[in-house]
Amino acid sequence: MIAALDIDRIIAERLAERERWEPLLPRKKVGYTRSRLFASDAFEILALLWFPGATTPIHDHGDSYCATRVIAGELHVARYIRGDVATAAGGSGLRLVGRSVQHVGEGDALDGARDLHSVANKSPNEALSIHLYAPRYTEFGIYDESGLRLATATARYDAVLNF
Ligand SMILES: [Fe+2]
Repeated sequence: MIAALDIDRIIAERLAERERWEPLLPRKKVGYTRSRLFASDAFEILALLWFPGATTPIHDHGDSYCATRVIAGELHVARYIRGDVATAAGGSGLRLVGRSVQHVGEGDALDGARDLHSVANKSPNEALSIHLYAPRYTEFGIYDESGLRLATATARYDAVLNF
């Protein structure tokens, strides 16, 4: 895993270039867009632009480590831990470990396949966040509240930028 200090430095480097890449982020009226700012063998950096009402399902990030940082607006985040024990409903057990409203400068670190979250922009304004994934991942799981894996999705980019 990348040390916390390195994450701060990596995000600071992307923020230093923000005026160059932010105007290039794809826009739409609903949902959110994912734009890759940088990728290496070890990790990738994405900028996520969240439009009002945008919301994700509960999801993992493959087996990757995920660090997030809000840089504009605010995001509602629910954090979950996925358990090992099957439930009667067919899920593997999902424990809500916290809900928070994250403001500029705040974020999360999710460490591996059992660390899940859902993210929403409930404000009338856009929000912008930077996400680091280490290593890069191509597939991720979507879950319901019981921990039942509903689907495997493919990670897609709305734009691939190089900063
Ligand atoms: Fe996520």
